[in-house]
Amino acid sequence: MAAQINPSILSADFARLADEAEAVRGADWLHVDVMDNHFVPNLTLGVPVVESLARATDTPLDCHLMIEAPDRWAPQYVEAGAGSVTFHVEAAAAPVRLAREIRAKGARASMALRPATPIEPYEDLLPELDMLLIMTVEPGFGGQAFLDIMLPKIRRTRELIRKHGLELWLQVDGGVSASTIEQCAEAGADVFVAGSAVYGASDPAEAVRALRTQAET
Ligand code: DX5
Ligand code: ZN
Repeated sequence: MAAQINPSILSADFARLADEAEAVRGADWLHVDVMDNHFVPNLTLGVPVVESLARATDTPLDCHLMIEAPDRWAPQYVEAGAGSVTFHVEAAAAPVRLAREIRAKGARASMALRPATPIEPYEDLLPELDMLLIMTVEPGFGGQAFLDIMLPKIRRTRELIRKHGLELWLQVDGGVSASTIEQCAEAGADVFVAGSAVYGASDPAEAVRALRTQAET
C-alpha cells in the first residue's frame, strides 16, 4: 500500500479548523485527537466538533480516542461522521465487541497501544481490525520526541500482519517527522500521523507531500 500521511489537527489552530483542514488538502485523512482529561492529562474536543468538521471538509476523519470508556463513546464518533475510529485497548472493556460495532456502523475499526502495551496478547484480535496504531510517544500532547525503542514493536507487528495474511494498516503516531519517518516506514508502518511536523511547517500541504515521498523511498 502507498504511504498515507494523516496530519494531526492537535497542532492546528482550533479557532480556524475548517481553514486548517483546507491547508492540508491532499492529505489522506485528518487525524483528530479526542482527549478527555482522564485517559490522558489533556482535554481537546468531542462529538459536536467532529460533526462540524466532517461537514466542513472532504478529507475523511481519522478519530483517535484517548478517552476512558470508549465502548460507550466510540460509536457516537462514527455517527458524527468519522471514517475511522481508534480506541485504546487499555481503556476498552470489550475490544472485540467494540471493533465489530464500529465496523457495523460503517467506519474502519482501529485499536491503539500505548508505548508500554505489548502487541503479543492481541495477536488473535488483529482480524477484527482495519488498522492498528502504535504510539511512538506517551499519548496526550503534540510535539514530543519520537520513542525509537518502539521500532522493534512496529517490526514485530508487521511480521504478525504478514503471518496472518491481513490487510490491516499499521499507523504510527507521535514524533513523526522528516528525521524519523523513514525508520518507521522501514520497520513496517504505512500510515503516518504528523502534527507539529505538518502544522509547524510554513507550507503544511508541501510538508505532507515531502513526508509521503520520504516514506515511500
Ligand atoms: C498525541 C497525539 C498525536 C499528536 C502528535 O497524543 O495522539 O496525534 O498530535 O503530534 P506530533 O506529530 O507533534 O508528535
Ligand atoms: Zn493521535
